[in-house]
Amino acid sequence: MKKKHFSILVILLLLTGCSNKLDNINWKFWEYFIEEDASEEVVEEVPEEEEPVEEEEKPEENPQTEVPPETNENQFVLEEPFFTVLNEEKVIENTDNILVLVNKNQSLPADYVPKDLTIPDVPFSFEGDFDKKYLREEAAHALEELFAAAEAENVEIFAVSGYRSYETQYGIYNSYLKKWGEEKTNAVSAIPGHSEHQTGLAMDISSRSAALDLTEEFGETPEGQWVKEHASEHGFIIRYPQDGEVITGYQYEPWHLRYVGKEVASYIHEHDLTLEEFFDRAIKQ
Ligand code: DAL
Ligand code: ZN
Repeated sequence: MKKKHFSILVILLLLTGCSNKLDNINWKFWEYFIEEDASEEVVEEVPEEEEPVEEEEKPEENPQTEVPPETNENQFVLEEPFFTVLNEEKVIENTDNILVLVNKNQSLPADYVPKDLTIPDVPFSFEGDFDKKYLREEAAHALEELFAAAEAENVEIFAVSGYRSYETQYGIYNSYLKKWGEEKTNAVSAIPGHSEHQTGLAMDISSRSAALDLTEEFGETPEGQWVKEHASEHGFIIRYPQDGEVITGYQYEPWHLRYVGKEVASYIHEHDLTLEEFFDRAIKQ
């Protein structure tokens, strides 16, 4: 539009012979046309200044309104700290986790000793203050509860072997090795560092009817049957169940109780799982 004005003006000037007066014209007047040309040629787009993005205000965390992960029958929602954390050598890092998974594939550090070991107030199959009487505090209280429930039903059981240090397991494993060789030993005894007894969360138990021995026969006794049925109510599982060797790597040990807490123990018992299978079903919250 301005171009049109300019052309008309030039024609007028030429017609009126005023072209020689162009120099005297106020340049402010010419800027009107010059600016127009510039504005028409320069099409550079000035980027719009971005408005700072304000951080969305997070709603206050309210456990009641939090949506839990979707699960089906075969899944168990578990909080993150209960999952076992390994380093590159498959050595466990969160050793004090009450659900720590110790097996043939992953081990405890050789120097790991639980800090809260205590002697549960239950009948033992032997006298004296030995390491094997100890359990971690939470497991010790649960064992007292289990033994009290058994006693209330006239079921007499005895604690035989609890906490074991790495060094003690080393001695046991190597004595079996000499006697039985590698294959048989590995089916019944853990390589040092790989024994649940080092966690302070496992207790071997027996009964007079099984001569206070740790044998498969204990599982057939009334006491062994009672324990199998009721251990989970007090937070324990039979860690190496019958027919579980293909998963756990160990033969049936009806005497070896592992503390995992009531909720997990009940789930494992109800679904007839090993601890390994339980973790296959566990999903992080
Ligand atoms: N008997 C079990 C597997 C242990 O040695 O820890
Ligand atoms: Zn055991």
